Amino acid sequence: MSTTAASKGLAGIVAAETEMSYIDGERGILEYVGIPIGELSAKSNFEEVIFLLWNRRLPTESELKQLKLDLSERYELPAGMSNRLLALPMNAGPMHMLRTMISALSMHDPDPNNIELDQARLKALNILAHAPTLIAYFDRYRRGRYLVPPRRDLSFSENFLYMLNGSVPTPTMARAFDICMILHADHGLNNSTFAARVVISTLSDVYSALTAAIGSLRGPLHGGANEGVMLMLNEIPSLKDVEPYVMDKIERKEKIMGFGHRVYKTKDPRATDLQKLAQQLAKDTGNEDLFAKSQAIEKIMERELAAKGIYPNVDFYSATTYHCLGLDLDLFTPMFAMSRIAGWAGHILEQLSDNRLYRPAAEYIGPHDAPYVPMKQRS
Ligand code: CMC
Repeated sequence: MSTTAASKGLAGIVAAETEMSYIDGERGILEYVGIPIGELSAKSNFEEVIFLLWNRRLPTESELKQLKLDLSERYELPAGMSNRLLALPMNAGPMHMLRTMISALSMHDPDPNNIELDQARLKALNILAHAPTLIAYFDRYRRGRYLVPPRRDLSFSENFLYMLNGSVPTPTMARAFDICMILHADHGLNNSTFAARVVISTLSDVYSALTAAIGSLRGPLHGGANEGVMLMLNEIPSLKDVEPYVMDKIERKEKIMGFGHRVYKTKDPRATDLQKLAQQLAKDTGNEDLFAKSQAIEKIMERELAAKGIYPNVDFYSATTYHCLGLDLDLFTPMFAMSRIAGWAGHILEQLSDNRLYRPAAEYIGPHDAPYVPMKQRS
């Protein structure tokens, strides 16, 4: 078979069909199953979005109630998993913990390799319900605090903040966090979603596919950028230091985290929603200086790099949002992962329902008919 020139980074290559999310990168549009993301962040909730992504339609009242029940019944970890978690090094990175523990969940499943659609879906539900517990338990463990068991009467978002902080969040905090979960749930064939689809296309298992996706998401060019944004904001002492800091980075041709996107050539619609959220939360929590620095960075980037199609992406204002919600820096990317499990799982199910093994080609650019040089003659 002949191969054509490589498309570095697979830019512009259509490698899957999906009914889950639609992105128009020129016009800054994102829809889940046809519903604009702004509608969902304003009116929906995370559980409803999970149903939407997995069923390609909104749930009825009783279907939503059932999904909430199915999820909350699974908040607690399987026997033995808490002990496994408490044996981890306390200084482990939460993304390494999450990747490892989701992989470990497969060993607590009597039938981990079963990928019949209904079984794969059940496994995805289990993993999605366990992820907040893993993150909250690990965070409390590393701080030397007692573990707070989940409460089944709380929603996904409320329960996570409850387990993390030991108190039920205010409705404002819970709603803000739920909006973050909605906004991060799915995004076309991004790198981690592709990783999940590639792995499941071998007919491997749900745990392996999700583990690969978490590994991909951690990278600073992908979900890890939200942590990079916060590090940058912390490095800039005050508002007056923003201009020299950003200009110095631009002159050195260094990337500013939270800007630029392979698909969007305008402002990411999720960034627009998160900006509003960040502004309100910053006001409520006395973090106006942080929000002001973020806005100043955006203004300079617009002046300097908008012509290149570089605008804020989802990670830019999510950093301020998560900081205002009281989350530690290294929990930012796990928050992205916790929500994106919904999208990854939906894509795994989509791939399984019409599978063909992913096996692209590489353009060979090495030598041919090379001599086999005996060891003694090699320099
Ligand atoms: N700051 C400054 N310049 C940038 C940035 C940035 N954030 N992003 C891209 N550029 C420049 C880049 O230097 C290059 O310039 P030139 O043509 O002069 O060499 C040009 O824009 C194209 O960049 P690229 O890296 O080749 O574009 P890509 O489509 O391969 O990468 C990206 C997209 C998201 C990896 C990139 O924009 C980037 O590294 N951004 C910073 C990291 C980040 O915020 N990632 C989160 C992405 S969105 C959410 C998610 O996926 O998790």
